[in-house]
Amino acid sequence: MSSGTVIAIAIPVLVALAAVVGFTSLRRRDAQGLGHLSRETKKRDAGSLAGAPISDEAKELERSVALARVGGEISVPEPAQPEVWSPPDPEEVGVTRRQFLNRASITLMTMGLSAFGAANIAFLWPRPTGGFGSKVKIGTIASVNDVIASSSPATNFSYFSEAQTYLQPFPMDDATQQAAEAVYSGTVLEGIKMGYVALWQKCPHLGCKVPSCATSQWFECPCHGSQYNRVGEKKAGPAPRGMDRFPVIIDGDKVIIDTGSPSQGPPIGTDTTGQGLEGPHCA
Ligand code: FES
Repeated sequence: MSSGTVIAIAIPVLVALAAVVGFTSLRRRDAQGLGHLSRETKKRDAGSLAGAPISDEAKELERSVALARVGGEISVPEPAQPEVWSPPDPEEVGVTRRQFLNRASITLMTMGLSAFGAANIAFLWPRPTGGFGSKVKIGTIASVNDVIASSSPATNFSYFSEAQTYLQPFPMDDATQQAAEAVYSGTVLEGIKMGYVALWQKCPHLGCKVPSCATSQWFECPCHGSQYNRVGEKKAGPAPRGMDRFPVIIDGDKVIIDTGSPSQGPPIGTDTTGQGLEGPHCA
């Protein structure tokens, strides 16, 4: 076949092919312009939007876009106008979590600081005088001596509850005075020289209140059986010493017991008065 013949056949074939391609592309564009989606696109949309409701607004927008492609106009929905902001009613809103936490922390901090401040003030506040732990005025010399003198001969113990103290007369003869000077000193000895010894009711063993015993005329602790004579010197039992005692102060005509300054009782074996057992024990 000559080249002229080939060219003569090829040209009509190419023209025919070009016509087919052009016709096909026009058909596809028309189809796209009318809003028809390809199968692949439909499948993808179905996968991503499965189950998702399509709003009327979206449908309208899609329709208008399709129309615009074939010569219509796109109708864009009017954007909604933003509402004017107005502050919410606090009563309606209530308390938010942040507000609650802020208020709770401030309240707790205020309470803690108040308690701390109150404790400091209480610590620094001057203590009232006159109660146990301070100097306790128990009466005038005359009234105290009346109490001692009026105590029953069967008891011979003078108790002053406000000072938690037995104020006992101390024998004033030379022998007891000399014996006392050998054992006692300071304010306790000064009290003895004035004729008094102030015994703390608290047992030096483990702290029980020690009552007097009318029959033995001793102090006898009911807890573990420690016994002391009338001036608080240990006679028996587990106590490590005699009864502790307070200074006695004479201020003018007043008798004061300084319950804030106790001194330890005399050591075991002290016996300045020689008072023996005068009857059966109570404990
Ligand atoms: S507490 Fe008094 S003897 Fe033990």
